[in-house]
Amino acid sequence: MVMLPRPSRVILLLLATTVMATADENEERRKPNIIVFLMDDVGMGDIGCFGNTTINTPNIDQLAKEGAKLTQHIAHPICTPSRAALMTGRYAIRSGMTSFHLMRVISFISAPAGLPSNETTIAEVAKDVGYSTALIGKWHLGFMCEKENECSDPNSQGFDYFYGLPLTNILDCGHGTVFEAWRRNFYTEVAVTMVVLALATFILFMYSMVRRRTLVAVVVASTSFYLFCLIMPKLIAVMNCVVVENHDVVEQPLSYTNLTQRHTQHALDFLEEHKNEPFLLVMSFLQAHTELYAEPYFHARSQHGVYGAAVEELDWSVGEIMGALHRMGVADDTFVYLTSDNGAHVEEFSLSGEKEGGSNGIYKGGKANCFEGGIRVPTIVRYPGIVPPESEVSEPTNIVDLLPTVVGLTGGQMPRDRVIDGKDMMPLLQGELGISPHEFMFLYCGGYIHGARYRPRKGNRLYKIVYTTANLVEGPHGTMGCFDSYPCRCEGPTTVNHDPPLVFELRSDPSETTPLDPTTPNIQEIIAKARAAVAEHQASIAPTPYQFAPTRLLPRFGDQPCCGTFPFCSCTEDHSTRFSYEDAKPDKAHKDWMRADTSKAS
Ligand SMILES: *[C@@H]1O[C@H](CO)[C@@H](O)[C@H](O)[C@H]1NC(C)=O
Ligand SMILES: *[C@@H]1O[C@H](CO)[C@@H](O)[C@H](O)[C@H]1NC(C)=O
Repeated sequence: MVMLPRPSRVILLLLATTVMATADENEERRKPNIIVFLMDDVGMGDIGCFGNTTINTPNIDQLAKEGAKLTQHIAHPICTPSRAALMTGRYAIRSGMTSFHLMRVISFISAPAGLPSNETTIAEVAKDVGYSTALIGKWHLGFMCEKENECSDPNSQGFDYFYGLPLTNILDCGHGTVFEAWRRNFYTEVAVTMVVLALATFILFMYSMVRRRTLVAVVVASTSFYLFCLIMPKLIAVMNCVVVENHDVVEQPLSYTNLTQRHTQHALDFLEEHKNEPFLLVMSFLQAHTELYAEPYFHARSQHGVYGAAVEELDWSVGEIMGALHRMGVADDTFVYLTSDNGAHVEEFSLSGEKEGGSNGIYKGGKANCFEGGIRVPTIVRYPGIVPPESEVSEPTNIVDLLPTVVGLTGGQMPRDRVIDGKDMMPLLQGELGISPHEFMFLYCGGYIHGARYRPRKGNRLYKIVYTTANLVEGPHGTMGCFDSYPCRCEGPTTVNHDPPLVFELRSDPSETTPLDPTTPNIQEIIAKARAAVAEHQASIAPTPYQFAPTRLLPRFGDQPCCGTFPFCSCTEDHSTRFSYEDAKPDKAHKDWMRADTSKAS
């Protein structure tokens, strides 16, 4: 939205071209390392440099100081499709990684749904040209094999090394349960219903209207159902809350003790081992998805309860990794990209009513819907000498742009046998291009297109054409969200279709408050252009196996990763890490990083 004033953009452009020229004159620049920091459910309002004044993110803010803040970076509104898009450079619908029903993410590690092995990921692009590759943290793109050698797990999708969660962090891994996330008083409601049912049957029995056999059956069935609801979350925790190193289960169910620290430690070990060759590291944080967690040290500092602690711990980890790059002398040869998979999950509240979802700042909606709050994600690129410091890119970019950008940076091969939706971001980031390479972007909710973004090739306007919206209703503390359909649906009675579509001009109306008058010729033309673009886009989608077919989402108990004999899987790893908070306090780590910087410059 906020464009840099013209003169400063010109200066940046000049700066960038000068820098480029010098780089060209020197011999070829070393192939840059690539670090992707992927946050989970962190919103536009959660990060210091994006305007948060009470969550401390000094390390992320420092990235922005040394690079570019992307204020119009768009993702899919929910984890699995968004991650598929980031990995492949394609809208998730092209890989079959998005859903036409309620279940919009993969929910069991042993479910056969997953990123098809013939998709090309950023890791495969980099690996093909000699990079060492690692994914640390959350995967959530499937862990099973379709056939032998056709697998979806990270090692099979181009990552030499994987440590983390095949699925994702969920409430069931901690204190909560899916049922209670769905209905706050789930257990009370079930218990009351079951007791009423049994009592009613008993009364009928007293009046000889049902037989003893029926009474016994009702009591047994309702007790079993209640027990099932109690046991199911525990079983889900054993099945899904699993820490894996490559293919080996190292902890089951997972423990939150030093979990971020353990991830960070593995990242640092990977960097140390590969510092002399080009590497690609995807640091895919579990934070700040519920179940929220952080070490006590971060709780003590947080002004926003456990949510703030989770984001600040994530920021600490960014600092540790950046600090290590500086110590290794490779920080300036590294392209760093930080983003979030979707907007903050505003409907998340603990059972006691504490806010557990993040903030989308001035943007409407959040995770799981296509309002700006769901799809606009806080994004930063740092690449010293190439991307001007303290710059801001307010031209539309997209999470699918990462793959073509990685292709450009690494000198890798662009997959040629399929449609790639993304565009190399470098010309825009360097200031060589003044306008987004995307004239249109398509905003998917599940497999449905809920809207489009249109950036006319002239002028500065940016339109959002909206075909369907989720119903936002008021929840706890006045929060507007999908409180009548948790999570937001993409079709059905809790959504509204708009015909003619709503049209917003996002530069002047970022909060989508006032649709433009659809009867004016100008807006009618915009609607018609968008309709044609959507039709053309849809025609370009090749048929592909639908990963969200309900049968593919069900667990296959025989394939369940397990340390032990299912369901008695149990193992735990060493929780100790080398970090000392005495010298790695978030602000201090950050200062160390600065110091490393100055010493290098002098
Ligand atoms: C900072 O983030 C917290 C947690 O998401 C949120 O409650 C608060 O409103 C945010 N502050 C600003 C200024 O956006
Ligand atoms: C967690 O890591 C810290 C260092 O970051 C260490 O001092 C502590 O002992 C570890 N906790 C456990 C339970 O191992």
